[in-house]
Amino acid sequence: MMKANLAYAGTQEALDAVNADDASVSHHSEFFFDLQQGLARQHKSISPKYFYDAPGSALFDQICTLPEYYPTRTELSILQRHALEIAHQLGPHAEILEFGAGSMQKVRVLLDVMDRPARYVPIDISGEHTQEAALTMANAYPHLQVEPLIADYTQDLVLPPDMPPDGRRVGFFPGSTLGNFEPLDALRFMRMCARTLQGGALILGADLVKNPDLLHAAYNDAQGVTADFNRNVLVRANRELGADFQLAQFAHSAFYNAPLQRIEMHLMSTCQQVVHIGGKPFAFAQGETLHTENSYKFTPDGLHQLAQRAGFTPGQVWTDPENKFCLLWLNAPTYRSHT
Ligand code: AVJ
Repeated sequence: MMKANLAYAGTQEALDAVNADDASVSHHSEFFFDLQQGLARQHKSISPKYFYDAPGSALFDQICTLPEYYPTRTELSILQRHALEIAHQLGPHAEILEFGAGSMQKVRVLLDVMDRPARYVPIDISGEHTQEAALTMANAYPHLQVEPLIADYTQDLVLPPDMPPDGRRVGFFPGSTLGNFEPLDALRFMRMCARTLQGGALILGADLVKNPDLLHAAYNDAQGVTADFNRNVLVRANRELGADFQLAQFAHSAFYNAPLQRIEMHLMSTCQQVVHIGGKPFAFAQGETLHTENSYKFTPDGLHQLAQRAGFTPGQVWTDPENKFCLLWLNAPTYRSHT
């Protein structure tokens, strides 16, 4: 991170001079650097974390209600069905750290039946959304300490302030967000979790390998909401970075890559074209793609192997009757692992 910023420092002044008159456009942002870097690669790519500005978060919430998009409602039904058992595992006075808290709906299922939950720490990169949702939570649960952390939990080691150790510290990472990480990054993240949660546990929600037709439909909905969500990263680049993406010339493409066990999302250039960002031209051949997301699918066995490599000890596995999605209870190591 620091290295990337330093590497660009020499060009920054020149860019500032060019764009000094346009206050709405930021050429300082991480998004700017990442997009320029991503478009310069042989296989163009951008991190899916840039989907989630306010309009993108709203589109994602809409995706979660689509008939084709089964993960959200399936995970919620697993949570509801096993809430009492999970609450029992959590024990009294537990605190929950949620990674990528979003609108904080799923955690309510647990908080509603937990024995005097002590603290809830939602961690998310989207500042405004998180503050607002945290306030709603504090009002809904008057006895709960709600302490939001605005942070990129994929980059920072997030250590929330200590609390009197009379309850368990348990991480909550639902929604199969883990699937957005490359396998090595997923391991790194799980190791960070193991350190942060030592002595406690992690509740992990993950989407399972299944019939490719079902997977394909979930990322190619009939209403085109997922396509809009995908293209939103271009809308955002145009607005925030003054880029000149022609939205109509980028087609939504999502497919299951079976050998790699992942859904890939791309934006495919429908013609030969040149896009400009911060004055730099980036050429797209017809049919060339900008890779916007990987969404890995898992097996319970594979998840347990990953968890064990990160230092966790597998506990319960909860799934739906059709084995579409799973929730895992993973016990964090008691002693600091040397990672
Ligand atoms: C939030 C990463 C779990 O991969 O299913 C939904 C994001 N992308 N539709 C997923 C997403 C396209 C979602 N995750």
